[in-house]
Amino acid sequence: MLKQAFQSVKRAVTTSANAAKEKVDCVVIGAGVVGIAIARELALKGREVLVLDSAPTFGTGTSSRNSEVIHAGIYYPQNSLKAMFCVRGRELLYKYCSEHEVPHKQIGKLIVATGPLEIPKLNKLLKCGTQNGVDGLRMLEGFEAMKMEPELQCVKALLSPASGIVDSHSLMLSLVGEAENRRTTFSYNTTVIGGHHQGNCMHLYVSESKNVGNWNGQSSLQSELILIPRFVVNSAGLSALALAKRFVGLKSSVIPPAYYARGCYFTLANTKVSPFKHLIYPIPEDGGLGVHVTLDLDGQVKFGPDVEWIDGIDDICSFMNKYSFFSLLILFSVIYDLLHGLYSRFDYSVNVNRAERFYPEIRKYYPKLSDGALEPGYAGIRPKLSGPGQPPVDFVIQGEESHGVPGLVNLFGIESPGLTSSIAIAEYIAARFLR
Ligand SMILES: Cc1cc2nc3c(=O)[nH]c(=O)nc-3n(C[C@H](O)[C@H](O)[C@H](O)COP(=O)(O)OP(=O)(O)OC[C@H]3O[C@@H](n4cnc5c(N)ncnc54)[C@H](O)[C@@H]3O)c2cc1C
Ligand SMILES: *[C@@H]1O[C@H](CO)[C@@H](O)[C@H](O)[C@H]1NC(C)=O
Repeated sequence: MLKQAFQSVKRAVTTSANAAKEKVDCVVIGAGVVGIAIARELALKGREVLVLDSAPTFGTGTSSRNSEVIHAGIYYPQNSLKAMFCVRGRELLYKYCSEHEVPHKQIGKLIVATGPLEIPKLNKLLKCGTQNGVDGLRMLEGFEAMKMEPELQCVKALLSPASGIVDSHSLMLSLVGEAENRRTTFSYNTTVIGGHHQGNCMHLYVSESKNVGNWNGQSSLQSELILIPRFVVNSAGLSALALAKRFVGLKSSVIPPAYYARGCYFTLANTKVSPFKHLIYPIPEDGGLGVHVTLDLDGQVKFGPDVEWIDGIDDICSFMNKYSFFSLLILFSVIYDLLHGLYSRFDYSVNVNRAERFYPEIRKYYPKLSDGALEPGYAGIRPKLSGPGQPPVDFVIQGEESHGVPGLVNLFGIESPGLTSSIAIAEYIAARFLR
């Protein structure tokens, strides 16, 4: 029974013999901020680029569901990709935004200790940030920080003047425009449903998203087109791991397990004037940076994101290990889900009840937050490579040297600080892997 189910998955993602084949130069899968930045970089290098996204336009995924904070680079272990890309990416991002009139503001940030037990953690962050090359970090006494921010309550604070905010939609729009001016084509409503490695190249199975959405799970899903790029970057965000599993010929041992952590935001109702001028962050928690205050460029105040671990949506292997006695019917519905996951079935709803957890968290540093002030905002999902209670994992960027497939680069676990890092990731990929 299980074997049958597996075979039908294989069949379902295999392409029809008469699909059109086309050789192309570079393909970027995913038009999130990272994929777009990569496409622009390749275009600047004179390459012809095709960007495919399953959604009707660019930036509908995590790239428009985040805090829009330009991170300084404080939290990440020394010499990690996150530390390197965040510091370099921040510099490149500020420069890019200034030169291209992308709305942004270097408003600075305070990471606050709200009790004496948290002070050692603040000291650790200072040390870590300094090692990572973050300039201007300064420890403040509680009274100094509270003088800067009269609504704040804290015993000590770490000031990070390099932190800021950016309008991520304007950023993406600008990068897309630049890429399009240099021979990049964006193809939306276009889903990569799988592929295989043959000879020196990847063959990508491409389908119109509406066919993936309409697929009934019974017949095999046909791809209308096979693209054979010289260079391909899998930058599919939340779906990058699921997609890599459908690349026949890619060793499964190089594909790490996927975890997902939703983060919800609540906004401050009826506020004309923000209570804070800086970003305010508590000490980081397991899986996230803690429910913090962010301001957007319109002056709206939001609190979030929290951390809510959600089930993987498309890991058929782990599902089958867990439920191997279930009926064929259920397996078929999983297979359906598996492919449907390619399309987009992430749950971005904000559970209003989670506000109850936000009030006590926020009042630790903002005691005057009044009852009923929080309104549900939006949610984003972190593409994680480690689960609850496990230590954080670095970004994973795999080229031929790690998986043996020439011309393929996989990006896994591009969670925060992916927005800040985007231009630096693009620079790195072009310098290191472009052939
Ligand atoms: C709650 C939250 C807060 C965050 N806050 C910050 C922050 O303040 N600062 C910061 O620097 N970073 C932050 N991040 C991280 C940042 O948002 C991400 O790292 C970044 O947006 C990732 O961009 P991406 O292009 O890799 O992925 P995405 O934006 O998810 O783009 C992936 C794209 O791939 C497409 N796709 C998927 N599968 C397929 C397929 N099979 N075929 C074709 N297309 C496909 C999707 O439609 C999507 O458009 C935050 C993340 C979260 C979740
Ligand atoms: C993508 O699909 C949506 C919904 O099916 C449709 O409204 C839109 O016009 C399509 N966009 C493109 C660029 O094809």
